[in-house]
Amino acid sequence: MLTLPSSRPLLRRGIYISIPLFILFLFGLSHFVHQPQYAFPRDVSSQQKSPYYSKGGPRHYSWENRPFFPPLINADGNLTASDLCANFSTHLLDRIQVILKTGAGEPEKNKAHLATVTSCITNLIVVSDHDEIIGQHHFIDVLDDLPPEYASDNPDFATYHAQKQAHSQGESVGYSQEGWRLDRFKFLPMVEKAYEMRPHAEWYVFIEADVYYFWDTLFRILDQLDPSMMHYIGSPVPGAHGRSFAYGGAGFVLSTGVMKRLVGDSSDSRLSVKYMDWAKKDCCGDAVLGYAILDKTGVKVEGLYPTFAGDDLASLKNVPGTDNGTVGMGAN
Ligand SMILES: *[C@@H]1O[C@H](CO)[C@@H](O)[C@H](O)[C@H]1NC(C)=O
Ligand SMILES: *[C@@H]1O[C@H](CO)[C@@H](O)[C@H](O)[C@H]1NC(C)=O
Ligand SMILES: *[C@@H]1O[C@H](CO)[C@@H](O)[C@H](O)[C@H]1NC(C)=O
Repeated sequence: MLTLPSSRPLLRRGIYISIPLFILFLFGLSHFVHQPQYAFPRDVSSQQKSPYYSKGGPRHYSWENRPFFPPLINADGNLTASDLCANFSTHLLDRIQVILKTGAGEPEKNKAHLATVTSCITNLIVVSDHDEIIGQHHFIDVLDDLPPEYASDNPDFATYHAQKQAHSQGESVGYSQEGWRLDRFKFLPMVEKAYEMRPHAEWYVFIEADVYYFWDTLFRILDQLDPSMMHYIGSPVPGAHGRSFAYGGAGFVLSTGVMKRLVGDSSDSRLSVKYMDWAKKDCCGDAVLGYAILDKTGVKVEGLYPTFAGDDLASLKNVPGTDNGTVGMGAN
């Protein structure tokens, strides 16, 4: 019933760049080394928040904002990971909850991600298809929460049980196409789990094991918006029946306003139950989540480029400072 154009494999290939993650992370932080006058960000008045919501209004904000990170002091060119995290704005993590979605079949990617991109996220939630402790992180098996009907007439889901059996016999589970197909069932329970674990966050930031953000850019953008309003932000991809959704491989963000309507409504059935048929039929979990958000809340994805992009860094277009490009945002 719900199908997607074939753009997904291309997009996905473009972001398989987990190796240079650490370099990019350093690059992102060192961006602030040469900023002479550092001051913490000012509070944006509530009238100024959510400018993108005024239809027909400007698609960018005209005031300057400031970094949440102090300049990086790199006295001897020799920073360790803990030096890099020392000045990370962890106080923001009470308001901004980061959720990493991954799979048991990708241990190298997970290790690299936890050591670099998400290394400073002290309260990171990790959702996976297998329950395990890795380092200081509890990988939560979100598929375990799904109703048993997910397994019926659903060959893609059979992998989950095969994987469980392998784990219980002490076998390791490597990367597989089947494991990748299983990934799409994680989206709905991931969103439920995030809200269940951290009902008081203002923003829910979703990331995958081959995705990174420039944290300061993301934090500064979210600081301009009102989290009580409904925001579903990401990199829009056209889906079935003229609907768009945020491409999972670019990361996406939900505001508490959306979360309350989407999963905080106890009078309705759980997302993963309500939209089970869609989740079973559609190829892509990010698409199903987008359709579920639209169906339940009426909210469309807001494209915010290039902070959310399925491209690698070198392929970004229209970046501010290089031409008249502004970081545009609009409903798609
Ligand atoms: C962290 O901030 C402190 C105070 O501003 C500064 O002294 C220190 O050098 C910073 N650390 C790094 C790695 O930049
Ligand atoms: C980096 O640190 C090591 C040991 O702490 C030291 O031997 C080396 O000279 C340092 N490198 C630079 C470029 O400062
Ligand atoms: C940017 O746009 C302004 C007005 O639209 C124009 O005057 C200016 O020349 C443009 N700058 C560049 C670098 O294209």
